Parts: sequence; structure tokens; C-alpha cells
Amino acid sequence: MDKLIIEGHKTLKGEVRVSGSKNATLPILAATLLTDEPCEICNIPKLRDTLTMIKLLRSLGKTVEFKKNRVTVTSKEALKSVADYKLVSTMRGSFCVLGPLLVKLKQARVSLPGGCVIGIRPVDLHLKGLKALGAKIEVENGYVIAKARQLKGDHLYLGGAFGPSVLATANVLMAATLAKGTTIIESAACEPEVEDLANFLIAMGANIQGQGSPRLTVKGVKKLKGVRYDIGPDRIEAGTYMIAAAATKSNITLKNVDYSQLLVLIDKLKESGVKIEKGHNAIHVKCVKTIRPTSITTYPYPGFPTDLQAQFMALMAATPGVSVITDKVFPDRFIHIAELNRMGANIRREGSVAIVEGRKTLYGAQVMASDLRASAALVIAGLAAKGRTEIHRIYHLDRGYEGLEQKFSELGAKIYREKI
Ligand code: EPZ
Repeated sequence: MDKLIIEGHKTLKGEVRVSGSKNATLPILAATLLTDEPCEICNIPKLRDTLTMIKLLRSLGKTVEFKKNRVTVTSKEALKSVADYKLVSTMRGSFCVLGPLLVKLKQARVSLPGGCVIGIRPVDLHLKGLKALGAKIEVENGYVIAKARQLKGDHLYLGGAFGPSVLATANVLMAATLAKGTTIIESAACEPEVEDLANFLIAMGANIQGQGSPRLTVKGVKKLKGVRYDIGPDRIEAGTYMIAAAATKSNITLKNVDYSQLLVLIDKLKESGVKIEKGHNAIHVKCVKTIRPTSITTYPYPGFPTDLQAQFMALMAATPGVSVITDKVFPDRFIHIAELNRMGANIRREGSVAIVEGRKTLYGAQVMASDLRASAALVIAGLAAKGRTEIHRIYHLDRGYEGLEQKFSELGAKIYREKI
């Protein structure tokens, strides 16, 4: 198993190119199940999660090639309706093959994704949405078994106790494209990744209105066609580099990035004293010597993303003063607190709230990565800390950050991977 070594306390400098969005890629790859025609998708990040989704598509009968951030999906054999436990259990994104398989094959048997360290993560909203379109659904031996001779449009509410669901919206949206009649999804997720999926489906010939808003209107069509499509930039990767720049008091430029998708982070970083300028497809981050403590609460988009909560906590841990961090999307997503505290941070948790008493300096330590964004937080803390940090179990990082060591090295960080 690899570990990551960081010799911290160095400023970063230069440009970093943001990769294509992981969380847009996963449902868009699933959407290729909706057509028998070839699809070519570019700007796909080379990540473990992307490779898992490709394996899943192959196991379902698709022929998939992946070269230089470009994926081609073709159909040479009949589609299969069973998504196996081995692939779905390792990655929740793969559960969004349910909607496309169901509407294409009239039946699907998809393993339940299971919980993970960021919370229980139920799938009730996915099932509720598909049931509203007429699916008969049973859960047996850890599999969701869904059947429907013909899905039919409905006017449905898809919000849950923690707000809208990104992947439930994706699942129901994909199923609705080939359903009979009109589907209106209220309280749909507005995340740019859902908008990217809707744009992909529209390019395939789907009739969708309201993408990016909480009401999606989908008029079912008979058939979808193959397309060529470019995935949008990964706002969470971009945000991670921006926070890393703030934590190391650095000046960096991000390329291939959408400023409008990062407004809430920009607002919070500005509140902390960081200077941020908008360029053409670029963001310039210019840091001052002293950062101010700033509190955040995560919400669904356009609120502060839960996927940047851990990274922002790392920044606040290294910022003198008190800040309060609340996660309203995943109230248990705080596994990183213990590891940050190993580096000298002073953070305590009370329910869904973390109180951070920021220090002037963090110190390198041996720490354990527990999930993708928690790992990114440890990288940021390691870059800011004095001394050497060793991050174990970094396979989590390989799930969601393309070329992380290379990108940080090019910015001047001392960061490298070691095999144990
Ligand atoms: C997506 O997960 C992302 N994953 C997550 O990114 C991200 O943290 C999350 O959205 C929130 O933005 C992918 O896109 C592959 P949700 P998803 O359903 O769709 C509750 C990362 O690090 N809920 O929007 O599974 C749920 O428990 C990952 O890249 C239900 O109650 O998240 C949570 O509290 C991790 N019932 C809230 O809704 C359901 O049926 C939002 O979760 C579904 C969700």
C-alpha cells in the first residue's frame, strides 16, 4: 500500500490545470446505457472511481475504451441487467446505473451501495423517485430489484431530510428521459454535476428544461442517440487547490475552471483575507500573511459544498482564532478531526458542529486517510505544517484527484509517494 510523504511549510507558486469533474463523469458514463449508439466523452479524469465505472459498464455488456482522458462507449452485445455487489459496493456513484438499466431493459438488479465513513447514506429517495414513475421495487439479499413494463411521467417531490440528493436526481432524471409523458422533479439537486448530466442527456436528444434549477421538467422521448461531449471542470478539485494555496500563504493560478461554480468558497476565502481574481477560464489566488478565522455551514448547491468541508477545516486548524464548521449535508462527516488533531490542531466535535481553535503552526505527523476529502484535508494540513507528514491509506486520494502529487510538485511542494 502506498503512502504519501510531504515536507511541509513551503509556499506554492505557479499554475495548475483543473481536471474534468469526477462527480459529473460518473453519472454521465452511466447515461451511455440509455443508447445503443456510440458515445465519445472527453476531459474524463483518470481516477480509480472512473475506472470502476468503466469496469461496471463493461460488466453490463458495453465495450469501453479509455485513452488520454477520452472514453468511447460502444454496444457490441446485448445489455445485461445485473450490477454486481463487487463493483457497486466500492463506489456509490455506480448506483446510478439503476435508472438507465430500468428504463432501457424494463428490469434491473443493482446491488445496494452500502454505508461509508461519511454517514449511513440511504437510497430511499432514488427508490421513491423511480416508484413514482411506476417501477415496482423490492430489496432482496442486498440487491434492489426494479421492474416496469413502461415508466410513466409524474409530478414528484424528491427532497429529503438533508435536502435534495445529487445521485437520486441523476437516477430519476435519466429514467425520465425515456419514460412515457412528462416528469416534473421538484426539489431536484442543482449541483453543476447534475446540470452537466442534463446537458449530456440533451445532447443525446432528451427533452429537459430547468437544468441547474430545483425544478426539472422532462418530456419523455422514444430514443436517445450517441454523442461527443466534454465534461466540465472539477469544482471540488479546484476548491481543494485554492484552499491549499490559502493554507500555505501562496499565490497560484488555476486554469480550466469555472469561477461561477465556486462563488461560496471565494466568498469565504475573501472573508478570511485571501485575494481572489477572476481570469479568462482561470482563477488567481493571492494570499496575505495573516488569514482570519471564518465559520462555514455546508448546504446543497449553491451553498458551501460538503466536499470542501474537511479541506476548509484543515485551513482553519492552521489559522489562529476560533471558527465553527457545521455540516448540514452529512452531519457525521468528521472522521478527519482526529487525524488533524494528531498534527497539533485543536478541534472538538459537538454533533454536526466542529469547533476549531486554530493554531499558528501545525506539525507533521503520521496520519491515516479515511475517505477522499478527508485525505485531501490531510494533504493541505501537511503542506502547511512544519516538518514531515506521512499519509497512509492514500488509495482514497486516487479515487478522486488526478495526478495530485504531480500537480502539487509542479507548484513547488515537496510531496512524493512511497511504496510500503
Ligand atoms: C454526491 O453523493 C457526491 N457523489 C458526493 O461526493 C457528495 O458529497 C454528495 O453528492 C453531496 O454533494 C457523487 O456525485 C458520486 P446525496 P450522493 O444523495 O448523491 C441524504 C465525494 O467526495 N440522502 O446528494 O450520494 C444523504 O444521506 C463524494 O466526491 C437520503 O437521505 O449524496 C445526505 O445526507 C462523497 N436519501 C444528503 O441526502 C437518499 O436516498 C445528500 O446526499 C439519498 C441521499
